[in-house]
Amino acid sequence: MSSRTYYVTTPIYYVNDVPHIGHAYTSLACDVLARFKRLDGYDVHFLTGTDEHGQKVEKAAAAAGLSPQQFTDKVSQSFRDLVGKMNYSPDNFIRTTEPRHYASCQALWEKLVAAGDIYLGSYAGWYSVRDETYFVEGETEVGSDGKRRATSTGAEVEWVEEPSYFFKLSAWADRLLELYEKNPRFIGPDSRRNEILSFVRGGLQDLSVSRTSFSWGVPVPGDPKHIMYVWLDALTNYITECGYPDTDGPLWKYWPADLHMVGKDIIRFHCVFWPAFLMAAGLAPPQRVFAHGWWTNEGQKISKSLGNVIDPVDLVDAYGLDAVRYFLLREVPFGNDGDFQKRALIGRLNGDLANAYGNLCQRVLSIVAKSCGEKVPPKGTLTEADNALLDRAKGLLAIVRAELDEQSFHRALTQIWEVIGDANRYVDAQAPWALAKTDPVRRDTVMWVLAETIRRVTLLVQPFMPDSTAKILDQLGVPAEGRAFNSFDTELQPGTSLPKPQGVFPRYVEPKAA
Ligand code: MSP
Repeated sequence: MSSRTYYVTTPIYYVNDVPHIGHAYTSLACDVLARFKRLDGYDVHFLTGTDEHGQKVEKAAAAAGLSPQQFTDKVSQSFRDLVGKMNYSPDNFIRTTEPRHYASCQALWEKLVAAGDIYLGSYAGWYSVRDETYFVEGETEVGSDGKRRATSTGAEVEWVEEPSYFFKLSAWADRLLELYEKNPRFIGPDSRRNEILSFVRGGLQDLSVSRTSFSWGVPVPGDPKHIMYVWLDALTNYITECGYPDTDGPLWKYWPADLHMVGKDIIRFHCVFWPAFLMAAGLAPPQRVFAHGWWTNEGQKISKSLGNVIDPVDLVDAYGLDAVRYFLLREVPFGNDGDFQKRALIGRLNGDLANAYGNLCQRVLSIVAKSCGEKVPPKGTLTEADNALLDRAKGLLAIVRAELDEQSFHRALTQIWEVIGDANRYVDAQAPWALAKTDPVRRDTVMWVLAETIRRVTLLVQPFMPDSTAKILDQLGVPAEGRAFNSFDTELQPGTSLPKPQGVFPRYVEPKAA
């Protein structure tokens, strides 16, 4: 196993509701990174799971007429099912109701108490159950219906007055600013970094970290009337997984995480509260937090009340798994908000996948099968045009690696697809069908150059579209052990027998209305 570790996490999902496209998106981004890093020789640990405590989940369970445990067992399973449906490759799925997580939260709590960062007081202020967030009055407003809501999220708030433990967040502002300054990559993209910097520069208030008015959560050690604030509990999952409090255990090598992937709505919890908790407990903060944007549906905010929630399972059933995976990461610059449009998905599916990539594979592999004896053709003398194409394909590994380290999925894909475009133009310019009559030796070389280019491109597309690329690599005769990036600089061996080619990216044809 490689000594270079890479630990990537999704947020753990609230189990108050079934998964939708937003959840699928965050996990997909992490899955692509995990797969890429594995192929690139890292010892990867990829974690996802469910956030099962708190008032929001307790209420949802009551509404469903189930006990919180029965309810969370049921909904958590739907997030696990999504993992299979979307072909994610997590190394573990954590649930905050697991005993090991209670132990970890309580150990962290005790560390914070011992460090003098927790004190008992009482909270009086506004709380949004939907956001599981405290708000000061100035962050809320009363609507025309007389209801008070959080201005930033639109969620209703309620007045809470109860005894509460506090975390001395106010004392951590300078150390947080120093952390951001010394680690310019700690928050991405830059727009979010600026948002957090100005929030922290504005001064921090102590944070209420326990509740007494409900019971679905982790009890505070020594004072079980209090249960821990669900965000303190939830964030701790990232170290529970690494074995906390046992920092000598086998999984502790993954801490600090290389990347916490989150949506833009939960950046404050990850970039302010979490590093403060960790530093207070004497633990290293994560190395990077990246916040992606939000999807709207055909121009509208996605919400249950509007009835326009996009179910990832329906998308996969209608358009195919790999097409959906490709579309979500190609269509919108990662980090920006994006609008989901069926027309755009179909355009990408037919344009980028069927016409560009699929057609390239199909043209090349069918000529090789028909005219080169179902074998990788011999490679003759290379021309300038051959080397130009091969060099561009060769250069892609470094480019894609750098883009993915910045979570620029769309740019990685754009650059891969430029080479696919070059390869299609090369086919047209070299016209191998005409060479068949005039110069079959040259024809073979042209086909070798193309097959080799497809091999390189396909190796890099693997993390995005694992199933389709596996089929293409099978058709190129690339053995399983030749698919990691330490084989990127090898070449297709002339003479290797190839199976019969089969189309991998069919065109999408709109089903006729019944
Ligand atoms: N339980 C917390 C996270 C705790 S992590 C220690 C939570 N859960 S969530 O289920 O509400 O949201 C999980 C993720 O889904 C967030 O990163 C959020 O940004 C993302 N999305 C929810 N709706 C979304 C869209 N419409 N578009 C894109 N992502 C969105 O927050």
